[in-house]
Amino acid sequence: MVSQQPASIRDVAERAGVALGTVSNVLNRPEKVAESTRRRVREAIDELGFVRNDAARQLRAGKSRTVGLVVLDVRNPFFTDVGRGAEERAATAHLSVLLGNSDELPEREAAYMDLFEEQRVQGLLISPIGDVFDRLARLRDRGTPTVLVDRPAQGRGFSSVSVDDVAGGYIAVSHLIDQGCIRIAFVGGPLSIVQVSDRLDGAKRAVSEHPGVQLEILSETGLTVHSGRDVGVLIGERAPGDRPDGILAANDLVAVGLLQSFTMLGTLAVPGDIALVGYDDIDFASATVVPLTSVQQPSRLIGQTAMELLLAEIAAREAGTDFEPRQVVFQPELVVRESSLRAMHSNPQQG
Ligand code: RIB
Repeated sequence: MVSQQPASIRDVAERAGVALGTVSNVLNRPEKVAESTRRRVREAIDELGFVRNDAARQLRAGKSRTVGLVVLDVRNPFFTDVGRGAEERAATAHLSVLLGNSDELPEREAAYMDLFEEQRVQGLLISPIGDVFDRLARLRDRGTPTVLVDRPAQGRGFSSVSVDDVAGGYIAVSHLIDQGCIRIAFVGGPLSIVQVSDRLDGAKRAVSEHPGVQLEILSETGLTVHSGRDVGVLIGERAPGDRPDGILAANDLVAVGLLQSFTMLGTLAVPGDIALVGYDDIDFASATVVPLTSVQQPSRLIGQTAMELLLAEIAAREAGTDFEPRQVVFQPELVVRESSLRAMHSNPQQG
């Protein structure tokens, strides 16, 4: 079977009986073409099986019609919602989003930054693992603007969209203390991830305001459901008096894992024995076996806002005008559900 040459844009124009430019308009600016002509061209495209080759357009324009997005963990619904918001805003500018998952691995993060630059993305959104500012500055200077997602970039010349995670940790642990918790644990890590260390700093500030309240840090773990389950088993093996009576999990996935452990062990009641607070308020948080109290992040809005800032910088570059990077910081909100309302469920057995 000899494979035929793929149909060209010229073949489509001849089949539809229109000029080349008309086919280009149907593909790129359909609003400029009469409905009857649009229909004839699309029929020709379908009959010929024409698929446009964006590489040629990209070579001419020097840029693709895509934006790169690098997230820390694609399994985390928080980042899925961030990507959804970014994609929604990109679509209004006729751009698509290419997703890269660093999996919290610096070498994978670097590989995606190289790939997206080679693909000539119009810009990059990244939730960085560590300090990548120098690398991002080189990327920007070579023509790829970048916005930091879920990370403040004060004073480093980039726009950023983040949430005040110190405030988030503070309101979460203050709530646990208000519920009568005096042995509080912070579960999640590594602390090299700024979002996590900021939440812990907020937790520490809340504890420092209440003499007699203790804070245990269990950060030699990850940010996944499995991480939470592993820590939950270890806590369940402790004597009652050695267990925390309140936990702030670094994110909802860790909280779900903790909840799974305590429920499967059947020895620890949430919130009666241990009040539990998560972070992100992902969709599952309200549907867990004990509805989860969580610090809410406006994840979809974070994605939309980051893309908005990136599009503004791209437009400024195209217009040759100056662009002043902007820092957008959202305030977190505590969504209280059953998992932390210890006062209502206190268990007299708890030592
Ligand atoms: O990936 C680390 C955490 O930071 C996520 O769970 C989410 O909370 C983000 O803000």
